[in-house]
Amino acid sequence: MAEVLIIPKGEARKYVYEAITPQIEALISDESDLIANLANITAVLKEAFQFFWVGFYIAKEGELVLGPFQGPIACTRIKPGKGVCGTAYSQKQTIIVPDVDQFPGHIACSSDSKSEIVIPVFNAKGEVAMILDVDSDKLSDFTQEDALGLQKILAVLEKKL
Ligand code: SME
Repeated sequence: MAEVLIIPKGEARKYVYEAITPQIEALISDESDLIANLANITAVLKEAFQFFWVGFYIAKEGELVLGPFQGPIACTRIKPGKGVCGTAYSQKQTIIVPDVDQFPGHIACSSDSKSEIVIPVFNAKGEVAMILDVDSDKLSDFTQEDALGLQKILAVLEKKL
């Protein structure tokens, strides 16, 4: 396993996503434990982008339960349809929220979180196995570029589910 991440400095996020995706693939390829892999993915994303909060909520018995994350403490359980995470879970689609205060029912784990992107992760049966939640302390910090970059990383994970 590589011990050092190579993260291009001062590049647009697109290039950083391109640089870290194969490194994440290498990092998780020989490990079968899901929690270990989710933990390392959050660590890479935090180190690469210094996101305010990045983590997984895992689908368990019909609700989302907090999994590995990097950042401040967060709420532990989210029901389907609740908040951004529960909405992405129910709708099975990526949601970009430029201003969390404008999202009805947004769950504020931290008042410093201003914008977020939430992406579902699918298992082989096409069910949402978990969601990735990334929060920023800046407004409008996420675009389709992040959606594409993160979806490509999650596709690497999905191959192992
Ligand atoms: N803001 C999320 C809840 C999770 S935390 O931000 C870590 C939501 O509305 O679903």
